[in-house]
Amino acid sequence: MGIASGIIKRLILPQHLWRVISLQRNRKKVNRTYDDAQLKLYHQLLPGDFLHYGYFEDPAIAPQDITIRMIYEAQDRYGQNIVDLITDQNSEILDVGCGMGGLLRLMNQKGYKAIALTPDKNQVHHITQTYPNQVLGCRFEDMDMTGNEGRFGTVITSESLQYLNQDIALPMILKLLKPDGRWIACDYFRTGEVSEKSGHQWPSFLEKLEKYGLKIISQRDITQHILPTISYVHMWATQIGMPIKEFALGKLKVKAPGIHYALEGSLPLIEQKIDKNIRTIDPVGFAATKKYMLLVIERA
Ligand SMILES: C[S@@+](CC[C@H](N)C(=O)[O-])C[C@H]1O[C@@H](n2cnc3c(N)ncnc32)[C@H](O)[C@@H]1O
Repeated sequence: MGIASGIIKRLILPQHLWRVISLQRNRKKVNRTYDDAQLKLYHQLLPGDFLHYGYFEDPAIAPQDITIRMIYEAQDRYGQNIVDLITDQNSEILDVGCGMGGLLRLMNQKGYKAIALTPDKNQVHHITQTYPNQVLGCRFEDMDMTGNEGRFGTVITSESLQYLNQDIALPMILKLLKPDGRWIACDYFRTGEVSEKSGHQWPSFLEKLEKYGLKIISQRDITQHILPTISYVHMWATQIGMPIKEFALGKLKVKAPGIHYALEGSLPLIEQKIDKNIRTIDPVGFAATKKYMLLVIERA
């Protein structure tokens, strides 16, 4: 069957048409945190069991000089920076939004007792297959607090705070921590007006900390050290991804002019989406509107 007739069949046959409509209709209802295909893709591209930006010692490194190995190493270094801030090495540690478990690996190597939490089924599955640690499969906001109050010496959110509802999560973290426990948070925050809304607003985060009885006891702005990864991804998207897209469209126009004609009307919309995605990985725009912080937070 040709490509065109395959598409037409899916649009005309009732069982396919129903599937097309219901997939479209339900697409907004899928909770991003439950089956995050994007995170799964990152893991396939960067199989170091980390899903964050990494930490480059040399912020001046050019994207053209970066290798995939350097990205793995930067991701491990980022994890190591967090693990180095754990002072209570005997109490249990809760890794909230643990991703694929890279931090568990580093903490296990040190003999620490870490428990993982993620709402993502793929991640829960991966961790159960790979690590001996207990993993809680739920959103942090839905974690059962029974028996957990004052249990943890350390709570870690490694690039996961941005997904949490602060008004629910902050009081929970306070309750979960032992009296002298610490919360290590590593994440980016919005400092300026951006169309792309990921990351909490820095000033409002500070207000929430105060409101819920928490205080920052140490902070490092590591933006310059994570930017090389963003520059690297941006280079791939603009210098390799875009030319390949142009090439593919040119080929389609020659080889399948009918399909190209059918797509032509949607192309500006697709281009807009691509542009928007590329803007989110623009290192200059990121540095101008966001900052990436490594924080240690305790009871006020
Ligand atoms: C960018 S990844 C970071 C993963 C990991 N901490 C790391 O450093 O590689 C964000 C993580 O937060 C998790 N997450 C998203 N929403 C969450 C929520 N409401 N509660 C707990 N974890 C959440 C995602 O499933 C994912 O594991």
